[in-house]
Amino acid sequence: MSRLKVGVLVSGRGSNMEALAEACGADDHPAEISVVVSNRPDAAGLERAASFGIATEVVDHTAFADKVAFEAEVIRVLEEHGVELICLAGFMRVLSEDFVARFPHKILNIHPSLLPAFPGLEVQRKAIEHGARFSGCTVHFVVPEVDAGPIVLQAVVPIEQDDTEDTLAARILEQEHRIYPEAVRLFAERRLRIEDRVVRILPQTEA
Ligand code: GRF
Repeated sequence: MSRLKVGVLVSGRGSNMEALAEACGADDHPAEISVVVSNRPDAAGLERAASFGIATEVVDHTAFADKVAFEAEVIRVLEEHGVELICLAGFMRVLSEDFVARFPHKILNIHPSLLPAFPGLEVQRKAIEHGARFSGCTVHFVVPEVDAGPIVLQAVVPIEQDDTEDTLAARILEQEHRIYPEAVRLFAERRLRIEDRVVRILPQTEA
């Protein structure tokens, strides 16, 4: 079986990257991580990736004259590793329209809220401040507008009265680690069909 080649882009901790690496380590998982790219040389995700024996690359955005040059280097690295799916996992740079157009419907992101509620940053705090009773996480395809692409999978978690940003984030993260590998599996099995902004999940037999 030839596995789908995945490139993971990180900027920090890399726990979602690790969840993907663990899932892809299973004999029956249809994807493999070919490379982990970080825009920050000090990202903990780099060491975590290396401990799985995964190739790592640093493309430090501060070392490039502009976004075009930075993204050109990221693209070069991804292509060098034959990447067929890009997974953003705590990647803190907004990708340009040109970058997104280069990989149409081939970029996934994980976001710690139930989109379209609470796009952007510090979303656990915002959910608590809004008195929301539930939050969760979303895996979605990336489009140029931030956190706005077609939704692939979501998981819901309750918000407890005494939750802090940290306790809520931890509860959500547990679900992130479950649904991101599942979304990658569905993509690799060609079971995701995008119709306008809705993603249909095909049953295994029709894929
Ligand atoms: C996660 O909460 C993810 O949803 C968001 O950034 C965080 C990254 O965490 N996009 P990690 O680096 O995967 O541990």
